[in-house]
Amino acid sequence: MKLLAPVAALLPFISLSQCLPSNAGSDTSGTTTATSALPSGTSMGVLNTLAQGIGKKYFGSATDNPEFTDSAYMAILESSEFGQITPGNSMKWDATEPEQNTFTFSGGDAVVAIANSTGKIVRGHNLVWQSQLPSWVSDSNFTADELTSVIQNHISNVVGTNYIIGYAWDVVNEPFNSDGTFVSDVFYNTLGSDFISIALNAAHAADPDAKLCINDYGIEGSGTKSTAMQNLVQTLKANSVPIDCIGFESHFILGEIPSDLQSNMEAFTALGVDVQITELDIRMELPETADLLDQQKSDYETVIAACAAVSGCVGMTVWDFTDKYSWVPSTFSGYGAACPYDSNLVKKPAFDGIVAGLS
Ligand code: G3I
Repeated sequence: MKLLAPVAALLPFISLSQCLPSNAGSDTSGTTTATSALPSGTSMGVLNTLAQGIGKKYFGSATDNPEFTDSAYMAILESSEFGQITPGNSMKWDATEPEQNTFTFSGGDAVVAIANSTGKIVRGHNLVWQSQLPSWVSDSNFTADELTSVIQNHISNVVGTNYIIGYAWDVVNEPFNSDGTFVSDVFYNTLGSDFISIALNAAHAADPDAKLCINDYGIEGSGTKSTAMQNLVQTLKANSVPIDCIGFESHFILGEIPSDLQSNMEAFTALGVDVQITELDIRMELPETADLLDQQKSDYETVIAACAAVSGCVGMTVWDFTDKYSWVPSTFSGYGAACPYDSNLVKKPAFDGIVAGLS
């Protein structure tokens, strides 16, 4: 699918180097320019510092290995703006165990190395998901016992051997349909919902100190899917299965932030789990306009302020910080501009919205 060129890229450039984050260092790419037709972010607030200042553990970003050759991008990713990173793809099953019992850790290792050298924590993402699952698992005819062993072996190797990452794992990703039923995949179809406790127990055995999360979208506001996730948490807790956190992915559409986001977070934390905003972006129908960017600023503030107000909402992660590497345009035709930095790595008004939400 062809990406739409941002309007900014089509208009005359002026230098906006004063809009760079204070800690981004001097830009060497020559691409940090923007048009005066659209407003930029102006805040010099440092996101992770602000988040920690209000008692959160981190403000972070997803990233992906192909981006590591982009020096201007890396200057921001590695800066103190972000205290946490999530690998967008390189710790998933297809990347780590493409063939049975053949493990490849180089992609995830590179993410961990960046985190370690820049003092960031890592959210491991993810261990059991129907997507990006190699066919030797998804198309298998494993018995329940065999698939249990396959899950346990995958997790003990990925978590236990290589990625003692010191923070959290999305152990189970996106287990529910929008109507609150379980996704019909090889895990559920073979093991029923037991695959969830099998995975969580295996992750706990591999790294007893890691926070273990279930991550999903469409659970951010109250409703059938959110209720299903809350019921799952209660069942897991009642059966002494280790579950520490629920990830609210938060892939939102402009102007459609759930009005009960905060109270829904509180409904989860009341069950004894933390909440994390794990994949925040807010997409708009292109082209960007000043009005849309202003609405996006307000929406980012709303989301971040909700987490800020809930003590059990421990951190927030954007699903990459720049429109340059957003997954949105290739997935939602005609939509994009979802991130707090534009495709030229210049802060957008959304950045100021995040700062306002953290203040
Ligand atoms: O690795 C192949 C490469 O070999 C091939 O040449 C290329 C051609 O298209 O594709 C590459 O795979 C792509 C992969 O990202 C790695 O770049 C896939 O096509 C592409 O579909 C895949 O997209 C990822 C998507 O998950 C897949 O479900 C996105 O980058 C990633 O940001 C996205 O992340 C998910 C979270 O894990 C879960 N929540 C939703 C979120 C957004 O979809």
